[in-house]
Amino acid sequence: MTIAAEDGGAIRDSHEASLIDKRLKTASSYLVEQDWSAYSADQHAVWSELVRRRMPQLRQHACQEYLDGFAQIGLSEDQLPNLKAVSRRLEPLTGWNSTPVSGFLPPGAFFEMLSARMFPTTTWLRGRHSLEYTPEPDIFHDVFGHVPLHAHPVFGSFLQQYGQTCSRLISNPEALERMGRVFWFTVEFGVIRQRGELKVYGSGLISSHGECSRVLSGGCEVRDFNLDEVMNQSFDTGAMQPVLYAVESFDQIYEATRLAEQRLG
Ligand SMILES: [Fe+2]
Repeated sequence: MTIAAEDGGAIRDSHEASLIDKRLKTASSYLVEQDWSAYSADQHAVWSELVRRRMPQLRQHACQEYLDGFAQIGLSEDQLPNLKAVSRRLEPLTGWNSTPVSGFLPPGAFFEMLSARMFPTTTWLRGRHSLEYTPEPDIFHDVFGHVPLHAHPVFGSFLQQYGQTCSRLISNPEALERMGRVFWFTVEFGVIRQRGELKVYGSGLISSHGECSRVLSGGCEVRDFNLDEVMNQSFDTGAMQPVLYAVESFDQIYEATRLAEQRLG
């Protein structure tokens, strides 16, 4: 038995849907089914090309937790990921899953999903004409860029806590803007120092060869992570980043999020 979501585009198994609906209030209408069998051979080839052009640099310059997570959740260099298969490997590790959604979510729905350890994941893939950059996240950015780190217990706890904190601040736009900067300079464009070297962990750096190369070659100022400074640092989503913030461990961003809620709540 299946049900249709309000937008008519989402069809899910009714048992699965009722389990999800108990955990989600506002986000459930954005959930869709990933039709993995509908991806064409050419789309699998584009995925393969994207992964193969990123991995040599990432094996050297991504943080170890990302590389471990990539293997643990079973991502392939040959085929687009099946989100159910990814979630089956991820959930026993940290309780996180990768849940297909129809596109951008409004803030309340996005934070609600993070609070439930459900990562909103797009299912479309960029075309060959835009291998380096897409203005909106696609499955390469979302799965290749984000999901491997969700296999790490501390990062996973940080991201859930981030969602819970923002849910509690939802009626305070100024506080949410500050929290948005924390997300940008950690989850999207975070760097970390490991054994004396700068390593990347933010999805925007993991998934973009050009931006990552620029950062690694010193084309961007890297400051020590400081919560107050990050919360005051505006950013331009369409430009290369002029400044990034390096943490010493993922415990640091977990603690910073707790502190942020104390200051903003
Ligand atoms: Fe992202």
